[in-house]
Amino acid sequence: MTIAPSLLAADFSRLAKEVGRVNRSGADWLHLDIMDGHFVPNISFGPALVKTLRPFTKLFFDVHLMCSKPEILLEPFARAGANQMNIHIELGDHVTSLLWRIRSLGKKVGLAINPPTSIALVQPYLDQIDSLLIMTVNPGFGGQSFIYETLPKIQQAAAWRRERNLSYHIGVDGGVDFKTAPECARAGADTFISGTALFGQRNLGAAVRKMLKTTQLSHPAALLPDSEPLKPEVV
Ligand code: DX5
Ligand code: ZN
Repeated sequence: MTIAPSLLAADFSRLAKEVGRVNRSGADWLHLDIMDGHFVPNISFGPALVKTLRPFTKLFFDVHLMCSKPEILLEPFARAGANQMNIHIELGDHVTSLLWRIRSLGKKVGLAINPPTSIALVQPYLDQIDSLLIMTVNPGFGGQSFIYETLPKIQQAAAWRRERNLSYHIGVDGGVDFKTAPECARAGADTFISGTALFGQRNLGAAVRKMLKTTQLSHPAALLPDSEPLKPEVV
């Protein structure tokens, strides 16, 4: 289970200190939302800021590109210190070359999908990615309500991963809090991107530990440990 606080919900007037808080919280990833004012109706920050924050932490930088032209941004973010870059399946024909480009830059490869987009579209790419990012809100803003209709997509992504013996992360992003995170875990998610719910807490470390614990307890693997084989039904 991976907890990834989203910097979008941090106090922007003291970002380096906020990164320090995440460092101390025990989280493994820092999720960085890049919005271009075109793919989504909002603008966040760019590679210069990511580069500025890089020396403050060893956290895994998970860069989420909500951008119409990620091809012009992959190299700048790679140089700025991204560890993984997620591009959106909604970019259609460009997806194959973008995934290849991320890999060739030596970074982990992420593919994101918006709530209205059919999960079937990601199927051809599953053996080429390290992470599938299932958007559980329409991207563009933090603090929105979780869209429950996305839960079957998580179940489908988990079923494909099992059937094809693949190992990509299944991440959820948007409206992920202490109630919805365990529900996503039950559906098969293992990576929880959370902004408002985590940064809203005075004690970020306690919040991360709480989310980790509740999701671990809800994950199907916890409910059915490997060590306990299915007992045949007695008829
Ligand atoms: C939404 C972003 C999310 C956002 C999540 O466009 O991709 O990563 O920061 O924020 P919360 O947890 O507040 O919904
Ligand atoms: Zn995001």
